[in-house]
Amino acid sequence: MTDAPTLFVLTGAGISAESGLGTFRDKGGIWSKFDPMKLATPEAFAADPTHVHAFYNARRQNLLAAAPNPAHAALARLEAALEEAGGRLHLVTQNIDDLHERAGSRRVIHMHGELLKARCLHCEEVVETRVDLSTAQACGACGRAGGMRPHVVWFGEIPLFMDEIETALLEADLFVAIGTSGSVYPAAGYVGLARRAGIPTHEINLEPSDNAHLFDGADYGPASEAVPVFVERMLAELREG
Ligand code: APR
Repeated sequence: MTDAPTLFVLTGAGISAESGLGTFRDKGGIWSKFDPMKLATPEAFAADPTHVHAFYNARRQNLLAAAPNPAHAALARLEAALEEAGGRLHLVTQNIDDLHERAGSRRVIHMHGELLKARCLHCEEVVETRVDLSTAQACGACGRAGGMRPHVVWFGEIPLFMDEIETALLEADLFVAIGTSGSVYPAAGYVGLARRAGIPTHEINLEPSDNAHLFDGADYGPASEAVPVFVERMLAELREG
């Protein structure tokens, strides 16, 4: 029995599109309706916290009404099977939704933060939240009000867990990107890092992404169909040993 592989999977908004959560850069995407510079930067929050809270409160309510789709479930199956066989699945997501966790994935790294968490600007405490945030909210840790913000990485801010992500990437036997346009760094640079490390790369997307030329292999189609097919292929290879 050969050693089971270690996979590094990077997901983007496309994996949650069929769960009813919007993507950003597709036709009719979130950034075609809202100006990210007025909603997803620290300056925007400082200038008009109520407007920013309203945007994220609406997305949080949308998320609570959404459900994982077969793509999320397939990745959770793959994580369990790889662990069972002595391998590993490092799942890194750009998404701020919790659909991977709700589908059963046990180890998810949210490099752009999480919509169901809030952070206090005064004391940095991070808390779970499923309710609307506002400037009236007092922090449960320091008691001060006016500083609770979405625990989401905004443009101009540093993504989370970058050292852990790069370490995980460099130990992978295969790099897979799912449902991401490959247009926002540092995530968009990870396929290049994998290639320079001699790691095979695979893209699963509705259509070729901006980085499509950097991938050794690809499956194109809706994630809820293409990801389960990919996972079944991986599981068959695992069974053959
Ligand atoms: N199945 C698979 N892929 C899909 C589907 C689907 N049903 N629908 C859309 N896609 C693909 C699109 O073709 C596109 O390549 O998902 C990708 C979504 O790209 P973006 O909207 O740019 O989302 P993402 O790559 O996750 O954006 C990265 O940008 O605004 C920031 O922080 C935000 O995390 C986000 C980051």
